[in-house]
Amino acid sequence: MLPRQFPRICLQGVATKVCLCLAAVCYLTSGPTRAQAVSSSSGLLRGPSRALLQDPRSPGVAQYEWHLTVAQAAPDCFLRDVITVNRQFQPTIDVTQGDFLQVNVFNDLPATYPQTSTGVSIHWHGLSQKGFEWQDGTGYASQCPIPPGQNFTYLFQVNEPAGTYLWHDHSSQLRADGLQGALIVHAVGGQAAEAWTYDEEQTLLLSDWFHGEGNAMGMTLERPFDLTKATAESGHWRWVSLPQAVTINGHGNFLDCALIGGLGNVNGTALSETACKVTDYTVPPGRSTQLPWAQPSNPGCTHANVTVEAGKTYRLRLISAVSLVYLTVCFEGHNVTLITADASPIDPISFGPCVDLNSGQRYDVLLTANAAPGNYWISAQPQYRMGTPSGFAVLNYKGVGAALPTSAPSQPGSVKPWSLSQINSIHSAAALLNPGASIASAPQPQPRISPDNYIFTSNAPNLQVPAKTRTVGFNQTQPLIATGQIRWALNNVAHDTVPPCTPTLLDVYNNPNYVEQFAVPANAIRNLTAPGQQVGASQQPDIYLGGVNFPDQPTTGLNILSVDLGEVVEIVLQNSPASAFNGDYRGAATAASRTGQEQHPFHLHGHHFWVLATGNGTWDPNSSPASYNLVNPVYRDTYSLLANGWAVIRFEANNPGVWLYHCHIQWHMFIGSNLYVVEGAEHISKPPDNYPACPAICTYEDAPYTTPYVASTYGASGYETPDAVGGPSA
Ligand code: C2O
Repeated sequence: MLPRQFPRICLQGVATKVCLCLAAVCYLTSGPTRAQAVSSSSGLLRGPSRALLQDPRSPGVAQYEWHLTVAQAAPDCFLRDVITVNRQFQPTIDVTQGDFLQVNVFNDLPATYPQTSTGVSIHWHGLSQKGFEWQDGTGYASQCPIPPGQNFTYLFQVNEPAGTYLWHDHSSQLRADGLQGALIVHAVGGQAAEAWTYDEEQTLLLSDWFHGEGNAMGMTLERPFDLTKATAESGHWRWVSLPQAVTINGHGNFLDCALIGGLGNVNGTALSETACKVTDYTVPPGRSTQLPWAQPSNPGCTHANVTVEAGKTYRLRLISAVSLVYLTVCFEGHNVTLITADASPIDPISFGPCVDLNSGQRYDVLLTANAAPGNYWISAQPQYRMGTPSGFAVLNYKGVGAALPTSAPSQPGSVKPWSLSQINSIHSAAALLNPGASIASAPQPQPRISPDNYIFTSNAPNLQVPAKTRTVGFNQTQPLIATGQIRWALNNVAHDTVPPCTPTLLDVYNNPNYVEQFAVPANAIRNLTAPGQQVGASQQPDIYLGGVNFPDQPTTGLNILSVDLGEVVEIVLQNSPASAFNGDYRGAATAASRTGQEQHPFHLHGHHFWVLATGNGTWDPNSSPASYNLVNPVYRDTYSLLANGWAVIRFEANNPGVWLYHCHIQWHMFIGSNLYVVEGAEHISKPPDNYPACPAICTYEDAPYTTPYVASTYGASGYETPDAVGGPSA
């Protein structure tokens, strides 16, 4: 794995001494999916947006130069356009705690590539970015996207807990085209500094995979859902449907649905009808839905092998980078023990061979290769969405030729998603709650380790739950608004990006009273009738104070929760029926059938938080708090809201910036399930000097759905034109 002793070159800068890893030695490893590392030091001339943290040991810099291009590949055997980084698919970033990460991202995508935004930005999911709020990579929140033909250099110190993270695009729907990967933060001192005993480690990046491009699918979500509002020119809403495959480390085979008899499953129960059919694809214009687009000879058409040596124990870093489905990952013939949740140590716990991951979540597990040497299935089974095929990889014992196991895969039908009591049995590691408790014969951490940057040793910080200073509540609904569009909303506000297209972080930096000045009161929000219609001053985004004002009628706009440094904020998130709170402009009678609720993974940027409780039904201010775990709740960055349920988290406002709080289902976020937490507005640092310029048109949201308009505004790639396939369904 990553070498622990890095040769270093030290440069004398004006104000500070900076040491560089010899990048080719430190970060360029032999794996085929490793990102290309560069040794140029030119980026060091640009400082981070905040002074270097005081650091007795000069940090190194992991430098990457990324060129994003389109290539033809077949990750699940079906040939299509994918996005690659330096011609590699879903590369991994490795960095050591305390070092700087510098990634110069060149958007070399063709200008005609379908976009719902005007470029790309890269987010580092799970990193708190304290002091580096301009580097969070969120389109129109922390930065404007990098337009085609331009580049932007991310540079920040990885002052974070060691563990498993991911990176992905956060401006458009490019996650679904593969623009994402693992981000591993290694402990200073390497494995020996961490608390667990294992021999080797491997990463399993899980994606769901569609045969259509992400943005093309996203655009269809903007069309009228209400058929009476659809025209021949606008076309109508079409759900992205189910992914055609699940990939593991960038490989799968959509024809694997044949392995399971063509059956999908729902909640662990096999369907009685054929639900995964090879003709059910969404394909780019001009492509056949049939062979030969799916040939075994296509580039990438193979199952991933995870090779282990008999007797050894492995730390497997499981990452869910899916855009939609909740996954149950199982290791045939092997039990696994969970040791971390979203890079946060937990009391080791095993549920047998399987682990559940929602989109954006990570679990590190220990697996000992103690079965008879052979080939075993690794399966990733979607839950809650019937008909999605599972993905498969092979757990291969060294010395035994890798081949598909001869046993039948155990799915579908055999494994149910975690129960409420299983979810609530995952606890923070006791040693994190008892600083000073001896938990391992680990070496003393380096002096630069702080409570923001701990490794799991006897010097771990005190992570006891602080008392709250404030509670806010959010109702998650799926309103149908007066334009005939369907949205996801938090407290009746569906997030939308509207001109003037400036990032909210820049707005707040320029005017710390921005939120107070432009907040729109709830009573001004009624009677929106047209897409993009503004309330209040023109050319200013609508701002609603989440948890304070709750509009009577659903609407679109910026949805902001403004918090001061020092607050301890408790968020109660309630899943509510789709059309609750006047959430259907057609009126109660028509809305009556729209009662559905779905499970959602929610992610908060800039923070880890305590998950105090997850429950079924409706949160009750009188009885629900009795169920809160204030002793050893899991401390993470992405959590699950059950269908027909609620969940409560608590976080400390200790990080100035604009941080997203959103559903991590790509498509739900795109049509509104998103909120900006504006934190410590007056403490935001200066923007970096290479900040991308902002465009006149922000996103595809609110496009007026006519072929000429869409073609002239978003380009003539052909992906945007209406079609008549499919139709609305709840
Ligand atoms: Cu992984 Cu805001 O996202």
